[in-house]
Amino acid sequence: MRTRILKADQEGRNYAIDEAAFLLSNGEVVAFPTETVYGLGCNALDNQAVEKVFNAKGRPSDNPLIVHIAKFEQIKLLVREIPDVAAKLAQMFWPGPLTLVFLSSGVAAKSVTAGLDTIAVRIPAHPIALDIISKSNLPIAAPSANRSGRPSPTEASHVLFDLDGRIPLIIDAGKTDLGLESTVLDLTSKIPVILRPGGVTIEKLKEVLGEVALDESVLTAVDFDQAVASPGMKHTHYAPRAEMIVVCGETAAIVRKIIHMAQGFLCDGNRVGILATKETASEYPESVYVLAPGSRFTPQIYAANLYAFLREFDVLGVDIILAEALSTQNEGLAIMNRILKAAGFRVVDAD
Ligand code: TXA
Ligand code: MG
Repeated sequence: MRTRILKADQEGRNYAIDEAAFLLSNGEVVAFPTETVYGLGCNALDNQAVEKVFNAKGRPSDNPLIVHIAKFEQIKLLVREIPDVAAKLAQMFWPGPLTLVFLSSGVAAKSVTAGLDTIAVRIPAHPIALDIISKSNLPIAAPSANRSGRPSPTEASHVLFDLDGRIPLIIDAGKTDLGLESTVLDLTSKIPVILRPGGVTIEKLKEVLGEVALDESVLTAVDFDQAVASPGMKHTHYAPRAEMIVVCGETAAIVRKIIHMAQGFLCDGNRVGILATKETASEYPESVYVLAPGSRFTPQIYAANLYAFLREFDVLGVDIILAEALSTQNEGLAIMNRILKAAGFRVVDAD
């Protein structure tokens, strides 16, 4: 299959949206931008279309998809009931990077929910995504548009690198704003639980909900032989090709520890990458590859660049990545969750 790329710039916008909506309405898959990362969309009511998404990504079939809608009313088709708290959250944060998990009506294709009795839904805050969904007049199931186990795509070129020849169309609207996937919040338990931290922070959710729980798999390695709330959590994610180790502690101690560890890896003949920050990047020796997605004081910028930099480490061909831990406050929680998962929760203490 040949993969076409259509630019959704001023000139190409309407044509790109029409083409995407046409393919989606005809049981095909299309990659398109959202405000978080690029998604690989399909008709959420069509089991065969959903199978195409799982095949293109190489995604395990027990990992359910998020359904994207353009208007709140569309949710009624998908869920069994709308708790009061959902309407409130939707009013505050939709369109936006918040996915809500409801009891499912059972109308969505079986493979969307991977056999669970719950369903994840969000309204994305990207004009192109919204227009494509509206034009198709369908609920659109869309996981991130990467091959399973690779970092999520924040640019159309990342989608092409992973899925060239596997999907018919990529809509290119440049770099995505946020760079990390949406917050996934489970509303089916008594206290809402964050299954995956993202752009809508736990701090902001607590302002609205009071009590919010954080699933233990967000910051710690969990024994996945036990049943888990979000099956997606057990799969390795966001993984660069090199092995990664996260170094925790106070900033100066982290830098000292990483320099010391790097020396050891260099002596063994390894190419060493360091995932640093703007504040610390200049402190490392020239014999290592240092990438700094952003400052410790602007986690939004760091988040927006992280996945592109993990892909860059692949291109540089490093054997090992030593990553500086960041604060888990605000957007820092989502960043640390993705870094820890990329590292398979391999953590070293600096102090
Ligand atoms: O920002 C995003 O959410 C992006 C863009 C494209 O919208 N999408 C995305 O999809 O990140 P994906 O498939 O890469 O991640 C979906 C996550 C997985 O962790 C999955 O396990 C969880 O949502 N999920 C989906 N349905 C669920 C359900 N019924 N219960 C619990 N977790 C669910
Ligand atoms: Mg994903």
